[in-house]
Amino acid sequence: MDLVVDDLVIEYASGDYVLRPVDHLSFEIPSGSLALLLGPSGCGKSTLLSCLAGILTPTSGTISVGGKVTSGLTGSALTEYRRKTVGIVFQSFNLVPSLTATENVAAPLRAAGVSRDVTAKRAAALLEQVSMTDRADHLPAKLSGGQQQRVAIARALAHEPPVVLADEPTAHLDYVQVEAVLRLIRSLAQPGRSVIVATHDDRILPLADIVIEMMPKFVEGSERPVTEDLNSGQVLFEQGSLGGKIYVVDKGDIEIVRRDDTGAESVVFVNKPGDHFGEMGPLFNLPRSATARAGSKGAKLTGYTLRQFSEIVGLQTLSGVLGKAAYGQPVKAVTKKRAAPTKAAPTKAAAKKVAAKKVAAKKPASRR
Ligand SMILES: Nc1ncnc2c1ncn2[C@@H]1O[C@H](COP(=O)(O)OP(=O)(O)OP(=O)(O)O)[C@@H](O)[C@H]1O
Ligand SMILES: [Mg+2]
Repeated sequence: MDLVVDDLVIEYASGDYVLRPVDHLSFEIPSGSLALLLGPSGCGKSTLLSCLAGILTPTSGTISVGGKVTSGLTGSALTEYRRKTVGIVFQSFNLVPSLTATENVAAPLRAAGVSRDVTAKRAAALLEQVSMTDRADHLPAKLSGGQQQRVAIARALAHEPPVVLADEPTAHLDYVQVEAVLRLIRSLAQPGRSVIVATHDDRILPLADIVIEMMPKFVEGSERPVTEDLNSGQVLFEQGSLGGKIYVVDKGDIEIVRRDDTGAESVVFVNKPGDHFGEMGPLFNLPRSATARAGSKGAKLTGYTLRQFSEIVGLQTLSGVLGKAAYGQPVKAVTKKRAAPTKAAPTKAAAKKVAAKKVAAKKPASRR
């Protein structure tokens, strides 16, 4: 069945502010297609899948399956939708450890009151479809990751749902296992059924009919990069504030300070010359997750819009910079990977070189 998402907004209330990982998103997935949700960590892929699965209610906008709006369902209609319309495959398989492959596949059918005989036949057929007949009596612990994922896919198909959702289905698999699971996922997209896969794994890209890029929107800005000259202790931006700039330190230190629920402050990171920070706000329209202030020697910095910054580091590698956003990491662990600080305030070209090098170094770590 066709799946249509129209002007969807999903917000989370988080403490004092609101996160909006899905912001006016629209797309259409015709029946029989395999669609990929692609985007950096935190961009809202799992959030969107949760809404499509009827687990989460969107803030506004609609989801329709086969021409019927499903996003406002409640009560028994919602239960029926979850059970019969969508099948879900998780990254971590989520099989019941004490049940055999057959029993895991049979569980949703038995729960829906399907007779034992019909269930047994259907489970056997599903396990055959995923080439797991010879392991039907095995417990999950006796199966490889790829085999467990195939059983989980069979289970998701128990009610022959017209929509199959998979969240990072290959993330825990080695490359040999990935192949069988990819073939299987591709084969699921056939007339009457749409398949939507959220992934970081660009190996899946050639299999897709449709790619939905969940790259966050650019904060438009045609103005020039700005320079900031801060005295010791002076605040650049406050935790919880909104801002559209990514900063590169030219001179001095910038302390990243996190305030917890009790109001206690701790320095979670120190940015040195050549380092960049503050990308999460402009990338995701998120409030700043920490305060940035100059260290004891003061600091000079350059502030870029997301577009300007992406021109420096290259758009393709922009998602690679996100690893840096985990300010919670201990300072020591991060400083080990840092490029040698430059002594003088770097020119724009030097900043470009340092930023590009850091991104290149971090890219493999950002993949799963
Ligand atoms: N229950 C929740 N409450 C508040 N915020 C949430 C909740 N779940 C997710 N978020 C936030 O919403 C944003 C999107 O999260 P989501 O898990 O959908 O991203 P993702 O694209 O699936 O990331 P990943 O690739 O790492 O799985 C993140 O900023 C996340 O911190
Ligand atoms: Mg996710």
